[in-house]
Amino acid sequence: MHRIAVVPGSFDPVTLGHVDVIERAANLFDELHVLVVHNPAKTALLPISQRVSLLEQSIADAGLQGSIKVASWSVGLLVDYCTEVGASVLVKGIRSQVDVAYETPMAIVNRNLAGVETIFMLPDPAHAHVSSSLVRQVASLGGDVSPYVPRAVADYLQPDTSADLLASRPQ
Ligand code: PNS
Repeated sequence: MHRIAVVPGSFDPVTLGHVDVIERAANLFDELHVLVVHNPAKTALLPISQRVSLLEQSIADAGLQGSIKVASWSVGLLVDYCTEVGASVLVKGIRSQVDVAYETPMAIVNRNLAGVETIFMLPDPAHAHVSSSLVRQVASLGGDVSPYVPRAVADYLQPDTSADLLASRPQ
């Protein structure tokens, strides 16, 4: 059986914690889709097309093995994407009890909606404190994000670029 899994997220931007989860999930499944999903609860920093591009570069630069595709989804349910591509599993990184509380209802609803199971993966402790929101905050205040993100993201989020992105972002 050809097992397909999806790693969904905002990836605004992709962090080293995400890359760690993607790498380990890719080792468990025949095919992995990394899916950039619009999260209306968050004010985005990067356009979705840029997030996809930075994910593709980061995955290539890390030399990750396996069949890994990057895609985006902005219309309809996440499980609709899973059904469309034949994926039966979602993989989510869990850093804390807060993440467990946030993810548990979604996992139950996604299973009820379409029979899609969710697997929670613990991050490498080196990345347990890293989040995209922390990276956005550090970048927006002119700080160095390179300890937390892949090289492509650190190169992209130079202070000038971050300032431009922030200026064009809805307040
Ligand atoms: O990186 P994030 O912002 O924590 O990712 C959250 C995301 C996008 C994975 C989550 O908001 C999500 O699963 N959205 C899909 C919307 C959906 O299908 N909702 C109904 C079932 S929970």
